[in-house]
Amino acid sequence: MAEKKYVTLTVLGSTGSVGRQVLAAVDRHPDRFKVVGLSAFTNERLLREQIDKYSPKHYYYPAGGVEIQSSLFDFLDDEKFASKCVGSLEELADHPADITVSAVSGIAGLWAAVAVLKRGGTLAIANKETIVCAGRHLKALEKKYGGRILPLDTEHSAIWECLKGEDGKYVKNIILTASGGALRDMPTEKLAKVTAREALNHPVWNMGKKVTIDSATLFNKGLEVIEAMRLFGMGADNVKVLMHRESVIHGMAEFSDGSVKALLSVPDMALAIETALFYPERAKGSVPDLDLAKIGSLEFGAPDLQRYPCLDVAMRAARAGEGACIAVSAADEVVVEAFLAGTIGFSDIAAVLRKVEKKFATVGDVALEDIIGIDAEARKYTYSIGVK
Ligand SMILES: NC(=O)c1ccc[n+]([C@@H]2O[C@H](COP(=O)([O-])OP(=O)(O)OC[C@H]3O[C@@H](n4cnc5c(N)ncnc54)[C@H](OP(=O)(O)O)[C@@H]3O)[C@@H](O)[C@H]2O)c1
Repeated sequence: MAEKKYVTLTVLGSTGSVGRQVLAAVDRHPDRFKVVGLSAFTNERLLREQIDKYSPKHYYYPAGGVEIQSSLFDFLDDEKFASKCVGSLEELADHPADITVSAVSGIAGLWAAVAVLKRGGTLAIANKETIVCAGRHLKALEKKYGGRILPLDTEHSAIWECLKGEDGKYVKNIILTASGGALRDMPTEKLAKVTAREALNHPVWNMGKKVTIDSATLFNKGLEVIEAMRLFGMGADNVKVLMHRESVIHGMAEFSDGSVKALLSVPDMALAIETALFYPERAKGSVPDLDLAKIGSLEFGAPDLQRYPCLDVAMRAARAGEGACIAVSAADEVVVEAFLAGTIGFSDIAAVLRKVEKKFATVGDVALEDIIGIDAEARKYTYSIGVK
């Protein structure tokens, strides 16, 4: 009997919010996907459960190796387990898989993304900081080695759908929608006193902590603008942000003739995930049907940059160039962590990012091998201006 053919998947960041949703998609389609790689950073317990469930060929855990083999992972045969534990995220990404999903958060996902594309692989990427910092290089590697980048972020997946079959020369603008985040209805004068708990209470999406805080400040939308520029070859002034609280329209493309295409669905990241994992086919029922008659009406508006100064900072960085984008992305990782730890206030996030953007505004293009250096410099500068 012929052996069953699965689509093999490595999930980088399998213990995170996106990673778990990718594995949920695998669970919905057990006849189609086979997990061959997993990775965690701190969540040993969940990684253990995932290894037990999916039996990947390889996994990465930074503190992995000897101690884990003998204690946490005692349910596994030691020798077999040791051979499965690789030394870095990049090494895991280098192992063959039909699709490697990058659901890692932060710039930590950079070299793994590069590794996938250098082996001519398919990279389904949610890890927006890596696209923001290295998008131009990733696109060049995709072309050079014949691999493929599939967007996994809901908005970029929507844009990708809108642009399918279109000639880039007719695309006038890309429009990204924004729900407004957890604090969208809070009076602006109260924002300075917002607690991490309030900012983490997103009205629509259930996501990891960093991206949820970034949604409350709308810095996330700024990162998405830069992401869209890199992924779809657009200029900063041709990627627009539209406030849309229902999150039913995820992205739109506006063409030279005045027509606009939009992608609508119930807000659930399962659609973007399955769009990428099934490409070029489509899954059945990734998300419930959209009942527009029941929804009745949709609201739109321009973003208020007084309420969302972090969006303004990100847009300035987008116009300034790669160095500024890398710097604000790195600084944001630092300030969000500080805000979550309670050492800075909500309004300090924008104030610090503004200073960082100004400092790095003239850096311009950055070579792939220099990205981590700029990232480190920006973090150092962020600490030097009082962030603890
Ligand atoms: N959540 C969403 O709905 C959503 C939507 C669109 C795009 N994104 C983007 O997708 C990425 C992941 O977001 P998320 O919300 O899933 O984040 P998350 O819940 O914080 O998960 C992050 C994952 O990356 C791992 N990780 C963190 N730091 C790492 C490091 N230094 N080295 C290796 N692995 C590391 C974590 O491991 P441990 O958990 O074991 O520590 C976890 O598996 C982000 O770039 C985010 O902006 C997220």
